[in-house]
Amino acid sequence: MQINAVRVNDRLAYLTRFGTTPDGGVTRYALSREEKAATDTVARWMEEAGLQVRRDAVGNLFGRLPGRRPGPAVLTGSHLDSVPNGGHYDGPAGVLAALEAVQSMREQGLVPELPIEVASFIGEEGSRFPHGLMGSSFLTGTFPYDEISHLKDRDGITLDEALRAYGSDPERAREAAVAPGAYKAYVELHIEQSGMLEARGLPAGIVSGIAGMRQARGIIRGRAEHAGACPMDLRRDPMPAAAEVILEVERAARESDPATRATVGFIKAMPGGTNVIPAAVELSFDIRDLDGARRDACVERVKAFFLQVCHRRSLTAEFEIQHTSTPIRCDSGIVQTMTEAAGGVGMEPFQLPSGAVHDGANVSLVCPVGMIFVRSRDGLSHCPQEYTSPEDIAVGTRLLAETLRRLAG
Ligand code: HGY
Ligand code: MN
Ligand code: MN
Repeated sequence: MQINAVRVNDRLAYLTRFGTTPDGGVTRYALSREEKAATDTVARWMEEAGLQVRRDAVGNLFGRLPGRRPGPAVLTGSHLDSVPNGGHYDGPAGVLAALEAVQSMREQGLVPELPIEVASFIGEEGSRFPHGLMGSSFLTGTFPYDEISHLKDRDGITLDEALRAYGSDPERAREAAVAPGAYKAYVELHIEQSGMLEARGLPAGIVSGIAGMRQARGIIRGRAEHAGACPMDLRRDPMPAAAEVILEVERAARESDPATRATVGFIKAMPGGTNVIPAAVELSFDIRDLDGARRDACVERVKAFFLQVCHRRSLTAEFEIQHTSTPIRCDSGIVQTMTEAAGGVGMEPFQLPSGAVHDGANVSLVCPVGMIFVRSRDGLSHCPQEYTSPEDIAVGTRLLAETLRRLAG
């Protein structure tokens, strides 16, 4: 089966205009104007491709290629939103490869036994609201809407307001959930975001499993004082406490396992004046592992240290888990199908784990999941330097198309 490698890469390039940053990255937050514009563009391409296009109650976009039988469909896709100043491939590569595979099938007159549906999930990155994998969480009925809807983004807009502004209907959010069995399988193409494929000179690979993550927020409260007038021994300064905690986060992950990853990606001092001892410091925790128990042991160690440091320094501490995703192993049947298909597209069936979390981790709650990785240059992602060559996109898209063809019969 042929795919149109020029078209999929041209479309990837076209989407970069929505949310471009001065240094060539992209900021396209969940439910933002930029995400809406990118999603509307993909919806138009789906219509031009002759797919049945719809959006669910929260704004996830779907384009369906009917099969000879009504279902259960084979689902494929990814997301179009990004992290702040991220790259142009994380998400769009999977949505556009999926569209290309299905459009090429239709153009070549291939009618699959089962329908194939291309999805673009809203808000995969938890960059705007403190719960990522949003669109796929609504699809699986696992989004904690009541706990999250009132939370504000950094501009003070609540998720509820953002959904309405996006044209979604929060009241009907529960309707977005599908019953197990609605889909036969889910296959997502994604950039690797690390350097294993590049180290082996491979354009693409087959994902063996997806790490699970726990994201938390910590707030250390002290006492705001004058940076010059207040003697060092009278201070209740939260910043040195935060510094101790951040070093412990690194130690805890390094002393665990190579698959354990821990990051403090966000820190904020309030009120944030150079000559003001902060009243409070907020910091984020992102701790992951392919093994859930190992990940949780790391979270517990960091949390205990966090509380102990604040107690020792007579500071008050808040530690709140905000988002948990479960580590999964990809479906062995789909991995086998990809391995057989790889030969057909001239690719070595190399298997590798995903340290990054993906919508597939969620969708595995309602159907078997498989993922394809395409090579990331220098292993970089979540930054403007993120890059995957048009050739590697083409190889991954061919493997995706072959896999979908086999899964959908
Ligand atoms: O954080 C992640 O792993 C993904 O990029 N949302
Ligand atoms: Mn990402
Ligand atoms: Mn992603």
